[in-house]
Amino acid sequence: MNPFRFGNVVTGEYFTNRENEIKEIVSEVKAGQHIVLMSPRRYGKSSLVNEAMKASGMKWFRINMELIADEVDLANYYVRNALSLSKFEKIKNYLKSLKIQPYIQIQPKTNEISVSFSTERRNISTLLLDSFQLPETIAKNIKKEIVIVFDEFQEIRRISPMLERKMRGIFQYHQNITYVFIGSQESMIREIFQNKKNPFYKFGRHISLHKIPDAEFSDFVIKRFSSQKIDAREIVKDILKFTDCHPYYTQQLCHEIYILSEKKTLTKGIINKAVDQITTEHHADYSRWWNSLTNTERKVIIGIASGNYNPTSQEFIRKYGIKSASTSGSVVSKLIVLGTLAKKSGEKIRIEDPFWKEWILKNRRCEN
Ligand SMILES: Nc1ncnc2c1ncn2[C@@H]1O[C@H](COP(=O)(O)OP(=O)(O)OP(=O)(O)O)[C@@H](O)[C@H]1O
Ligand SMILES: [Mg+2]
Repeated sequence: MNPFRFGNVVTGEYFTNRENEIKEIVSEVKAGQHIVLMSPRRYGKSSLVNEAMKASGMKWFRINMELIADEVDLANYYVRNALSLSKFEKIKNYLKSLKIQPYIQIQPKTNEISVSFSTERRNISTLLLDSFQLPETIAKNIKKEIVIVFDEFQEIRRISPMLERKMRGIFQYHQNITYVFIGSQESMIREIFQNKKNPFYKFGRHISLHKIPDAEFSDFVIKRFSSQKIDAREIVKDILKFTDCHPYYTQQLCHEIYILSEKKTLTKGIINKAVDQITTEHHADYSRWWNSLTNTERKVIIGIASGNYNPTSQEFIRKYGIKSASTSGSVVSKLIVLGTLAKKSGEKIRIEDPFWKEWILKNRRCEN
């Protein structure tokens, strides 16, 4: 079986331990400290919080805000998840506390609950208030603290502009719930939690998740290959150099290398083969991303992909035919917000997806 996985939440042997981060999150939630966990996309936030919650032994549930269509849908999810933490016999009592009654279905075999409110718009505030209050009522009754994890929390603004205010208004009185907010659009998460004008200003402690350190990731890669009797010691450095230790891209590259591996000892050539394979497989996506860019965006990206890291310098704008440094600067800011480019303080600017960068370079090479 392929010892590498990418895409979804990973756990168990597919997850490097991230021990310090788990310890930190567990100790904060046990102390009732709300947390805001931020990182660029696919650094492993959801996986980490999952592991931390398991390690904490606390009762918890997750709401993935990306999947929520609107406020009524949010209420459905919320009530369903909250009820799943209570004993089956108690569900009726909790339902009585709701002013608007949902339609409830229970799978007798698994006790799985589905909740659906059908409500008129004028009742939405009451509905949300009741739903957000329900976990606190349950926590008090079962005499246990509950952790609620909001994944992709920045989506709150898409769901409804008034939702932040409604949520904060209720959450601030909760004594038995710890809230964990996960976000991957850093600028939006900062706006929500660090702008004084916004309701969630200073609501939780910020934790930034970083990439997995070189040494730890290197051990992980070697161990996973060796579980399938493959020796990757000779190439692990080059793998991590290509992916810059990015958790998702590293697993993606290793996954492909494993598929292509024929020998028991891996040598460098296989990295290029795997990259080639990935760029070919994803040609349709990569070309769609490319075609969605404006001309100036393309010029900036070509420059950076070719190893020029200062897009606002005179040299850069002259070489790539960009109107002015400020045009280049605003394109860069936009592409960082979109996640196409990545820039960490003190580090060089880069194309976020190393495979897309290779695809661009590959397609622009001279062909004879
Ligand atoms: N601790 C880890 N050890 C090994 N691989 C990891 C780890 N964390 C994440 N990954 C890799 O990164 C991928 C994405 O992880 P996850 O979905 O948890 O990240 P995320 O930050 O929540 O992403 P998104 O921004 O898309 O929500 C996983 O499928 C896995 O391949
Ligand atoms: Mg996630």
